[in-house]
Amino acid sequence: MTKAMSVAAKTKQIVKKHGNDKSGMIAVLQDIQETFNYLPKEALKAAAKAMKVPFSRVYEAATFYTAFSLKPRGKNIVKICLGTACHVRGASALQDKFERTLGIKPGETTEDNKFSLETVNCVGACALGPVVVINTDYHGQVTMKKIDKMIDNINKEGAR
Ligand code: FES
Repeated sequence: MTKAMSVAAKTKQIVKKHGNDKSGMIAVLQDIQETFNYLPKEALKAAAKAMKVPFSRVYEAATFYTAFSLKPRGKNIVKICLGTACHVRGASALQDKFERTLGIKPGETTEDNKFSLETVNCVGACALGPVVVINTDYHGQVTMKKIDKMIDNINKEGAR
């Protein structure tokens, strides 16, 4: 089975799970991203076909929401909150630190595919600001020191 076939087959299963219907499009896209860690073009095409909607419609939804990524992402997604509460507590300095340590800018992935960096606006944990979310783990009151530790831990454990 080629890679493209397996992506399409897997996508078909996902669409089926959501009732083979366009009303579940966002949930389908979320599931596709969860499965492949981004939205591969083959998957979007297969999803459009299975839901019987034009590809442009699926593509539009995929590009509208910032939570979706059309580019392959690293195994570990680092999201820095730049919402107001986190911003006033120094989130941009944390962003600088992540950029320098990982050698990438938001929207980019390290060459070894280990980390992708993203920025978000408020993750709903303002009281804990500044907040950084790594994969599904929320880290509050993040300091420069904590960043080194967080990255070290992932490098040691390999996280995902
Ligand atoms: S502003 Fe960062 S969690 Fe709300």
